[in-house]
Amino acid sequence: MSLSLVKGASAPAAKSGAPQLDIRAMSVVYHTRRGNLRALDNLDMTIRDGEFVAVLGPSGCGKSTILKIVAGLLKPSSGEVLLNGRPVDGPQPDVGIVFQQPTLLPWKTVLDNVLVPIRALRKPVGDYRDEAMALLRLAGLEQFASHYPNELSGGMQQRVGICRGLIHDPRILLMDEPFSALDAMTRERMAAELQSIWMAKKKAVLFITHSIQEAVLLADRIVVLSERPGRVVEVLDVDLPRPRRAQVVTDPRFAQLSAHLRAYFRLDAQAG
Ligand SMILES: Nc1ncnc2c1ncn2[C@@H]1O[C@H](COP(=O)(O)OP(=O)(O)OP(=O)(O)O)[C@@H](O)[C@H]1O
Ligand SMILES: [Mg+2]
Repeated sequence: MSLSLVKGASAPAAKSGAPQLDIRAMSVVYHTRRGNLRALDNLDMTIRDGEFVAVLGPSGCGKSTILKIVAGLLKPSSGEVLLNGRPVDGPQPDVGIVFQQPTLLPWKTVLDNVLVPIRALRKPVGDYRDEAMALLRLAGLEQFASHYPNELSGGMQQRVGICRGLIHDPRILLMDEPFSALDAMTRERMAAELQSIWMAKKKAVLFITHSIQEAVLLADRIVVLSERPGRVVEVLDVDLPRPRRAQVVTDPRFAQLSAHLRAYFRLDAQAG
């Protein structure tokens, strides 16, 4: 099983790449029986080709709402959401999604679980078997292709979920707290695995997390949201060189960025 920290060459932030995701002045109001609830307020965000952007914010500030809108599962109340220059008007084939729980189908093998989006998109499954095996190899799961989900650990299942999110070669990968159900040690390993997969695949990534350490370790940029309604209160460039190995946490710049974010959340809690 591959648990090495980082493979491949350095992958600098692709700031000059084409905008993959462009969110402009987006607000979201949920209309409920108890009245209207403003979840997001005038949000702007851009993710370019190959860029890894983390979204950090307090619980209930609208992070999952952003993801649902980019995935085309929900419409914004106002503002624009463009994927590769085109307005999002429904579920998008160019988007891969990794949820908090792996949500694998227990009656399908690991390989067939990875291939689920191909069936959903009505593409020829046979054309994607080699790619599915290549992704499983990248995730250190090649020997488990014919196993069933209940034969895997939680971390292994989550890695299958990441392979499934990438199988149809989406332009952007959306991840909603994908490691939050895992223990601390598995989380660290998963972050390392994700970095190595990302460096190999160079996808645009929107990564939602509660973990400051995970955000600083993985992201090119961190978008900090306020309490609900979520507004962008800060965009922090993470200028640490890649590949970022486990020992980067001892880098003074890592400590500085983390302390800055921690201080922000303490202040935000006091203000709220
Ligand atoms: N379908 C819905 N109908 C009504 N209100 C909703 C709906 N989905 C979310 N909300 C509300 O919108 C706000 C933002 O929810 P969201 O799930 O986006 O937050 P979040 O930042 O992902 O929180 P967490 O960190 O706890 O996952 C919350 O107050 C929530 O109660
Ligand atoms: Mg959420």
